[in-house]
Amino acid sequence: MSNNAPQDEAKIVAGRRAIDTYLENGMSIGLGSGTTSYAFVRALGEKVRDGLEVQGVTTSTITRDIAREVGVPLMDINEVTQLDLTVDGADEIDRAGRMIKGGGACLLWEKIVAYTSRRMVAIVDETKLVDPIGAFPLPIEVIPYGWRNTMHQLAALLTPFGYDKPRLELRGGSSDPVVTDSGHYIIDCHLEKIMDADGMAPLFNQIPGVVENGLFVGICDEIVIGRFDGSSEIIKVRG
Ligand code: 5RP
Repeated sequence: MSNNAPQDEAKIVAGRRAIDTYLENGMSIGLGSGTTSYAFVRALGEKVRDGLEVQGVTTSTITRDIAREVGVPLMDINEVTQLDLTVDGADEIDRAGRMIKGGGACLLWEKIVAYTSRRMVAIVDETKLVDPIGAFPLPIEVIPYGWRNTMHQLAALLTPFGYDKPRLELRGGSSDPVVTDSGHYIIDCHLEKIMDADGMAPLFNQIPGVVENGLFVGICDEIVIGRFDGSSEIIKVRG
């Protein structure tokens, strides 16, 4: 984690509250990626050692390695048609559960796992709850072939939403691009504010070359917020 001890503590608080609130014996659980999710997986490992029986599906190779290290039993995503629950972090989230994800470059597997789940719970520290979302650059996962052309198409898509020449960047730069677990690149869109996430989200994936976008709308059911003072709050979004 970072050197920010109160924020790290708030992430741990959110993860532990999620475990206490949602986990039951026999559950299949999607395990998110990012520092908040890693804290959750480590806490889950303690519960498993105490006798909790669950099976996890991981959203990144890093989460897989941590889950193995702490003894959380895992299954392959292709072994299940539906998971009971996914618990995952977010880069930003609003009170309606609209999220920006992909800061850790894991958004594709995260979205697949979340879609496979009956229920999705976001675990965040208090800094992640914002209105509107958009200060965090929106990640778009693209195939390497023609990434520069895909970036131009993305800029054109954004124009009618009020973004005049938005800053789009290949994460890592063209000489050393970040490569995802699926072998793709990430283009970060610096938008500052996203006022119409619901309208924008379904459009990105229509561009050839875009694999998935980091806007998660209509996915989150509940938000668990960990606060710097050690308290926590749950916001019900749906259901
Ligand atoms: C990874 C993600 C993470 O959930 C997101 O980046 C939040 O990470 P952290 O818990 O470290 O703040 O989407 O792709």
